[in-house]
Amino acid sequence: MALRRKLYTGADFRRALSIEELRAVARRRVPHFAFEYVECGAEDELTLRWNRAVFESIRFVPSTLVDTTARHQRTSLFGRESSSPLVIAPTAVNGMQCFRGDVALARAAAAAGIPFTQSTFSNVRLEEVAAAAGGRLWMQLYLLKDRSIARDIVRRADRAGFEALVVTSDANVFGGREWDRRNYREPGKLTLRNLAEIACHPRWVLDVIGSHGIPRFENIVDFLPPEARSARAGIGYLPRLLVPDVTWEDLQQLREAWPGKLILKGVLNVADARRAADLGCDGIVLTNHGGRQLDGCVSPIEVLPEIARAVGDRIVVIVDSGFRRGADVVKAIALGARAVMVGAATLYGLAAGGEEGVRHALGILSGEVDRVLGQLGCTSLADLGPHRLARAWPETQESTV
Ligand SMILES: Cc1cc2nc3c(=O)[nH]c(=O)nc-3n(C[C@H](O)[C@H](O)[C@H](O)COP(=O)(O)O)c2cc1C
Repeated sequence: MALRRKLYTGADFRRALSIEELRAVARRRVPHFAFEYVECGAEDELTLRWNRAVFESIRFVPSTLVDTTARHQRTSLFGRESSSPLVIAPTAVNGMQCFRGDVALARAAAAAGIPFTQSTFSNVRLEEVAAAAGGRLWMQLYLLKDRSIARDIVRRADRAGFEALVVTSDANVFGGREWDRRNYREPGKLTLRNLAEIACHPRWVLDVIGSHGIPRFENIVDFLPPEARSARAGIGYLPRLLVPDVTWEDLQQLREAWPGKLILKGVLNVADARRAADLGCDGIVLTNHGGRQLDGCVSPIEVLPEIARAVGDRIVVIVDSGFRRGADVVKAIALGARAVMVGAATLYGLAAGGEEGVRHALGILSGEVDRVLGQLGCTSLADLGPHRLARAWPETQESTV
């Protein structure tokens, strides 16, 4: 008789042994529309699924009888030490998962000794996050129709001591997130079914809306018409601010205006990676936006080896999209990434248990990285390389660039 196996689905996030289990806890804690906002990919979600499936085709080749007692996963990012090769990715509307979600994520990142990236579309002002969390803070920037919004954020992030500006370039034409849109009758108006379902989550209502009201897009609130300032209305309005006329010219201007580290998030081919390095970027993020933008897009892990070979000695190569296990992180480092951004994984922690839940998610991931390093016979990330993996990686894909 087949063995029936079941993930833990209770309400105590501390009992979650994996990110998948944390996801199950999160699913119970927040209303459907808020959970699906994190979950959804674009269109048929081919890329969302491929982001996970791609890891299954990469396998480890361990070394045996190596003393790994002293192993660690510290790494250097932009000349500063990180406790782990993880970075919290920028995610919009974190206040929908828990009250002051941006602060909770930033605090958990600071406690774990890794950077937190705050979204342009966050629900807490960047100055407040800096004051409440400290740690290493990176600011994500969307170049919107009104470019003075970017100038405002650049000025404020510099003054607040943010270390890096992460310019997102892959959402200028907004993704077709049909599963998210189905939760709304019209932009900003949830379906009756979703409204009724919210009533089944009184603890969430108290926490997220409580006496303070619906979260607002505090970072850019001064630039929004009054009717689009709250997350309810703005979630339909903000995609309309994204514009397809953002070019390398904009990035050049940002390089001149921003004194800190500049990271371009949205690179997937060698030519763009070289151009970013030539322009003076300090880092790039290889990403398909977690499968939320171009459906049918390659997974960043597929193009990572050739991009790391081309520019890895000039700029910091970071990768994201689909990372749910420490083993995935180790595979990316072995293929040439310096660090990995995590989006959904830490949001599940946030939804399941606020700041403590994010700490738990980061603990799961770094615990898994540690275990995999030991099992591979490695004492540090420096021991990793393609020789630890079995998969026929094409020597070069220049022809596709
Ligand atoms: C709910 C959600 C909101 C996001 N919002 C932003 C954003 O505001 N800016 C941005 O550059 N990327 C955003 N992203 C993309 C993430 O930064 C990151 O690229 C992606 O989550 C990585 O994939 P993963 O979720 O599988 O880890 C968002 C992702 C999610 C899941």
